[in-house]
Amino acid sequence: MRHHLRFFNLWLKKPGQLGAIFPSSKNLAAVVAAEIDPSGEGVVVELGGGTGSVTAALLHRGIPPRDLVVIEREDSLCKIIRERFPHVRVICGDACDLGHLLASEGLDHVKAIVSGLPLLSLPKQVERAIVKQCFNVLPADGFMLQFTYSPRPPMARAIALELDLEATRSAFVLENLPPASVWIYRRRCVSVLSGHHLRKSA
Ligand SMILES: C[S@@+](CC[C@H](N)C(=O)[O-])C[C@H]1O[C@@H](n2cnc3c(N)ncnc32)[C@H](O)[C@@H]1O
Repeated sequence: MRHHLRFFNLWLKKPGQLGAIFPSSKNLAAVVAAEIDPSGEGVVVELGGGTGSVTAALLHRGIPPRDLVVIEREDSLCKIIRERFPHVRVICGDACDLGHLLASEGLDHVKAIVSGLPLLSLPKQVERAIVKQCFNVLPADGFMLQFTYSPRPPMARAIALELDLEATRSAFVLENLPPASVWIYRRRCVSVLSGHHLRKSA
């Protein structure tokens, strides 16, 4: 409840940056975390950690704390996540600088990106910069997970087309305020080569 109040107070000051009145519910966070395979090499990057709801679920899923990196722009929220999860690497910075932020920590192997950023409410050029950064640091078969409260896909169609990304809605979670959808973005050429595209349309 304490975290909900801190989040709500910050939302009153910066509604556009927060994008939600309250942190994600345990249900939404668990559905998000279930998409991530805890085995295998590389780090999982969480963009927009907030008060750590999704961070907690990723750890519960079995992602080792050393393989989890949280990027959050708001100092007061970084402090909360650091207090809650002292073994997780928290980088206080802007997701627009993702490549530099990871390089400055010596991190060069990212296996998946989980984003709770309010992508739809960002200016288009900022959204594009963030998505480009994400796919610059991801391997060819890596993916970006984005959750949204909108019935629409969370990424502008023009950006997905430009970067040749394929979108799949993997879940709808009613038990969240507001209800949320979970979307996965992958490079289309890799989906086709791996047969993902063929299986889906069969
Ligand atoms: C909708 S909240 C999600 C918080 C948390 N992941 C959750 O599920 O409860 C979005 C978060 O993204 C952060 N954020 C917004 N723009 C950002 C940016 N450009 N770089 C890093 N964090 C950002 C906000 O400060 C906020 O904590």
